[in-house]
Amino acid sequence: MSIIVVHGGAGRVSDQNRRSLALEGVKEAVQIGWDILNKGGSAVDAVEAAVVSMENNPNFNAGLGSVVTRDKTIEMDALIMDGSTREIGGVIGISRVKNPITLSRHILDKETHVLFFGEHAEKLWEKYGFQLINPDELFTDRILQRYENFMKDQEMEVDDPEGRKYGTVGAVALDANGNLAAATSTGGVLGKMTGRVGDTPIIGAGTYADEDVAVSATGIGEYIIKGMMGINVKIFSQTNSFTNACDKALSHFKGAIGKAGLIAVNNKGEWSARKTTQDLIFAKLDDSGLEVFDV
Ligand code: GLY
Repeated sequence: MSIIVVHGGAGRVSDQNRRSLALEGVKEAVQIGWDILNKGGSAVDAVEAAVVSMENNPNFNAGLGSVVTRDKTIEMDALIMDGSTREIGGVIGISRVKNPITLSRHILDKETHVLFFGEHAEKLWEKYGFQLINPDELFTDRILQRYENFMKDQEMEVDDPEGRKYGTVGAVALDANGNLAAATSTGGVLGKMTGRVGDTPIIGAGTYADEDVAVSATGIGEYIIKGMMGINVKIFSQTNSFTNACDKALSHFKGAIGKAGLIAVNNKGEWSARKTTQDLIFAKLDDSGLEVFDV
């Protein structure tokens, strides 16, 4: 059996129009990934393609539409992991590549190192024969407006985690050969300090895949890193049902509110989409059909 689950972020999405756009985006992404799985393609190809689709969609916080730092710069993080080989590729703090997950995939395929940051990662993109873009191409009017609001009223954004939407994107899949993969891509959190790295490219936190599970997280990266959410889904699933394992991983933050969500699949084809936020925009597609976040 094959299955793919994608997410387009957690938080609270109170604007109905934005909810619809995000739901359309995850439905499109899950279908793209499913088409690959359905033709016998690999889990790692499926999660990459699904994430590319959401990076190209300005309604998510990844690639086009990434949020900005408090210095109004873009610093995107991404990571992809092939559970069958445990091969990994990831990038940190880049701004001149339209699809950070595809650069990550090239790193997974071509390099012995697994993680590259900033301009060093971007130079690899040129080495692979692709052109860098101007970061201005990733800015959207919506993000610039949100940035202006943030600068006017920083406390609201920082102290009201439920009021924020973390539009990180991710995908997890199991292919017909029983291989698992996970991919996550993000602009981070609006108004983050320049140089801050979130959970997305931290293996075993925001993204994780092996022969048993594949996990992609979204939410406040600091809590996801401290809670080691990805690897904890695997650890807790050894003694719990899969859904309970995901809930335990989500609540493993030490102290403070851990506002986050995650999607996960295991090698039996079980899946889960869990959250401690009000909303988690997700879509699942397998032989039994499409399932989406229930609005
Ligand atoms: N979860 C995305 C981030 O905190 O950067």
